[in-house]
Amino acid sequence: MSNNNSSQQITRIVLGITGGIAAYKCPDLVRRLKERQFDVRVVMTAAAKEFVTPMALQAVSGFPVHDELFDPEAEAAMGHIDLAKWADIFLIAPASANTLAKLAHGEADNLLTTSVLASKARLIIAPAMNQQMWANEKTQRNIRALETGGALILGPGVGEQACGDVGAGRMLEPLDIAERVESLNEVSGVLAGKRVMITAGPTVEAIDPVRYISNHSSGKMGYALARAAIAAGAEVDLVSGPVNIHTPAGANIFPVKSAKEMLEVVQNRVSDCDIFIGCAAVADYSPVDVSSQKIKKNDEVMTLKLKRNPDILAWVAAQKVRPFVVGFAAESEKLKFYAEKKLNNKKLNMICANDISCEGLGFNSDNNQLLILDDKGQEKNLQIAAKEVLAADIIKEISYRLG
Ligand code: C5P
Repeated sequence: MSNNNSSQQITRIVLGITGGIAAYKCPDLVRRLKERQFDVRVVMTAAAKEFVTPMALQAVSGFPVHDELFDPEAEAAMGHIDLAKWADIFLIAPASANTLAKLAHGEADNLLTTSVLASKARLIIAPAMNQQMWANEKTQRNIRALETGGALILGPGVGEQACGDVGAGRMLEPLDIAERVESLNEVSGVLAGKRVMITAGPTVEAIDPVRYISNHSSGKMGYALARAAIAAGAEVDLVSGPVNIHTPAGANIFPVKSAKEMLEVVQNRVSDCDIFIGCAAVADYSPVDVSSQKIKKNDEVMTLKLKRNPDILAWVAAQKVRPFVVGFAAESEKLKFYAEKKLNNKKLNMICANDISCEGLGFNSDNNQLLILDDKGQEKNLQIAAKEVLAADIIKEISYRLG
């Protein structure tokens, strides 16, 4: 929220535009942010001006664009330090590989990088570059350094690029960026001082040293929840099965493999939690006998004897002194019926259900759509949105119910 004494609590965003073809989308991004009642000022690097004119951005933002570090006239109006102090959020979109590298190393050689370095504002970055530049280990190292420093990275998206390549590196669409910034801004501070434990990803149940049983789960929803809970001011324990995504900066990560290991971590740490969110796709069964040697494929038919795994979520909800307990339900039919049944049987406070028969949603996708039910009989539909947006909405729903 705004760091002046304004009673309207308008959030102030400095949009930093760097040199990339996606800069042409920035007038639209400014409009989308303003529609959401953000107060926006624009800073551009010299390279950005090759792709979009300062005049266009002045027209949509309604304010002169800042582009020179050593411009006495601009400094007299609002100097770079004032700009840095004015911002609640610094949004860099598109963020080029060059600017990412500078920000990661604390360089301050232009107005944008100097202002970021001089600012306490929340840093949100929407990278945009050629897919090979994005995949480069040096860029990935810079991104990780920025994330560890508390920056929030939005995207990049995957698809066809201006250079003709196909891959990850496209700036997210302006509407998508504006929605994500809005969600995270709304959630800011709503769980201050709370402790949250989240299970995420799949569990893997060993059959022998090379084979296992598991579920489809990218971990994206659980990790997005961890990021949203951190943005909301909570202390977050993330108990995660094997996934291919970065640990959110600020989360206490507990990597596990099997359901048994996941349960052990939860049992050891859940007692002083205020909120427990079971988002993991825990395998329902595991092999009765785990072979210490690789099983040879001698027979045409092979029978595996499986035993039920512990229900981690139900275990947490069964404790006498328990946190606010939230579960997930991925259903292929009768979404509300089965979600209600799980809510009641597992004695949850809230459940988030999604229909896995909807193509392009859930599992490995970046988007989802959820039906939220609670133990007071309330019901809410969260329309199709990015998992980050839904995660922030879920955190808000939890915070309303905690009071
Ligand atoms: O019963 P079902 O697996 O459909 O329930 C889904 C919910 O229960 C999810 O929140 C999941 O994380 C949790 N769960 C669990 N332990 C299990 C099975 C599911 O915590 N063994």
